[in-house]
Amino acid sequence: MSNVSSISSKRIIQGGMGAGVSGYRLARKVSGYGQLGVISATAADNLLIRGLQNGDSGGELRDALGHFPNQDIAKRTIDRFYIKDGKANDEKYILNQFPSFEKINNAEFRLKNKDLEDTLVAGAFTQVHLAKRGHSNPVGANFLNKIEWAQLPTLYGAMLAGVDVILIGAGFPREIPEILSLFTSGNDGKMSVSVSDKKYSIVFSPQRYGKSEVKRPVFLGVVGNHLGVKGLPNADGYVFEGPIAGGHNPPARSKTLNDIGEPLYGPKDEMNFDLLAMLLKQNGGHQPYWLAGNYSTRLAEAISHGASGVQVGTPFAFSQDSGITTELKQQALEEIINGTAKVLTSARASPTGFPFKIFQLPGTVGTQETYDKRERVCSLGHLIEICEDAGGRIITRCPAEPVEGFVRKGGSPEEAEGRICLCNGLMATIGLGMPGEPPLVTSGADFTAVKELVGKHGMKYTAENVVDYILGKV
Ligand SMILES: Cc1cc2nc3c(=O)[nH]c(=O)nc-3n(C[C@H](O)[C@H](O)[C@H](O)COP(=O)(O)O)c2cc1C
Repeated sequence: MSNVSSISSKRIIQGGMGAGVSGYRLARKVSGYGQLGVISATAADNLLIRGLQNGDSGGELRDALGHFPNQDIAKRTIDRFYIKDGKANDEKYILNQFPSFEKINNAEFRLKNKDLEDTLVAGAFTQVHLAKRGHSNPVGANFLNKIEWAQLPTLYGAMLAGVDVILIGAGFPREIPEILSLFTSGNDGKMSVSVSDKKYSIVFSPQRYGKSEVKRPVFLGVVGNHLGVKGLPNADGYVFEGPIAGGHNPPARSKTLNDIGEPLYGPKDEMNFDLLAMLLKQNGGHQPYWLAGNYSTRLAEAISHGASGVQVGTPFAFSQDSGITTELKQQALEEIINGTAKVLTSARASPTGFPFKIFQLPGTVGTQETYDKRERVCSLGHLIEICEDAGGRIITRCPAEPVEGFVRKGGSPEEAEGRICLCNGLMATIGLGMPGEPPLVTSGADFTAVKELVGKHGMKYTAENVVDYILGKV
C-alpha cells in the first residue's frame, strides 16, 4: 500500500542525498527498519553504467536489470557497459551520451539520445528495485527539479520499479500530479521548461519500456518554508527543509552575502507555523509534513509543531551504509570529532544558482587550492542549461564548463566564475569518478548527532544506529 496515510505514519524520512550518497543499500536498510528510505535519482544513469563498468560485484545491478520490463534494453545496457572484474583504476569510464535535444514543433522538444534515455529509465529502475528488496515497506526516490531534461525518464524508471513516494526539491513542480496520472496509464508526459526565456515543454514517451500501467506514487514537495504550500499547493504533502540542511539550500530572501560569500538568511526565510497551519487548512488539511535541516535531535519538537516526523540527512550520509567512500567518511568524521570541520554555504558553487553546502575537506574540489588545480571539464551534463542559439536550434551550456565554451554559447564570464562541476565531483565522492577527478563533499552544518553516534558506536556506526538515535529523542 502506498497512499498518503500509510506514509504519514513514518516518523523518519531518510533524506535523498545525491549523487548516490543515498543509494539503494542505505534506502533498503532504512525502509527495512520501517522508516522511509529514499534513493537519490540524481545521475541514475551513471550510477548504473559506472557500477557495471566497475564489475558489478555481487551482481545486483545485472540481477535488477533482469527484472526490467524491456529485456532488449536491459541486455543492450549490459553489453555496452558491463566489464567482468571491473575496469582498471586508472582507466577512464566509458561516458554516456551527452544530452542533446530535438524540436518536435515550436512549443515542444525531446531528448535526442535514445540510449541515454534508456539508461536514465533503467538506472532509476535498478535503484528503486534494489531498495525494495528483502522487505515490503515503502521506498522513496528524490529528484532535483532543476535537472529538467532528465526528470521525466528518471521519474518513469522509478515508477516502473514501483516507487511508493517521490520527493522533489529545488523548485515548485506543479505539473507533477498530472504527469504522474499520465505515466500511470502509459501516456506521454510533458513538463514546462523555459528555453532562453521562451516557454517550451519537454516530452517523454514511456511506451517503449513495455508496461501499459504502473502504480501512482505519493508526491511530496521539498520546499523551504510555509510559503512552499502556496508555491506548490497540489503536492500530497511536504518536507520543509531549512537552510542548515545538506546539499542545495533554498535561496535567501536577502541578496546580501557575508564576507565569505554565504547567503544571509533572516527572519523572512524562517518557518512560520501559524501561517503554515492556515495555508494547509486552506488546502483542505490533508497534507502531512516533515521538518528537515538539523532535526535529527528534535523529533519531539517536530511532532509538537504538527509534523508527522523529520527528514534527516547528515547522520545517514556519514553512516557505514551510505555511498560516500570509506576514506572520505573517515577523513570527514575525524574532522567532525576533532572540532575542525567547516561547512560553507556557497552562493556561487552550484551551476544551478541555488546555494550549496560544501564540507571544506582538504583534497576535495570544495577547497580553493584543489579547485584552482582542476581543469574545467563538462562530461556528464546533468546540470546543463537548455537554450536556443541564434538559428533557433536547441543547445546546452553549463556555467561550470570551460569558460571559453560557455561564453561562446552565450553565457557570461561572471556567471561562470567560481562554479564547481558538481557532476564530476559528486561521482568521485561515491567512488565512481574519473581517474584523478577530485571529490566534493556536501553535508549539513550541524554535527551534534554525528558526534553522539560516533561516541556511542564508533566511526562505523550504521543506518540502524541513526534510526534508533532519532526515535530515542521522543
Ligand atoms: C550529502 C547530502 C546530499 C544531499 N543531497 C540532496 C539531494 O540531492 N536532494 C535533496 O532534495 N536533498 C539533498 N540533501 C538534503 C537531505 O535530503 C536532507 O533534507 C537534509 O540533509 C536534512 O538536514 P540534515 O542534514 O541537517 O539532517 C542532501 C544532504 C546531504 C547531507
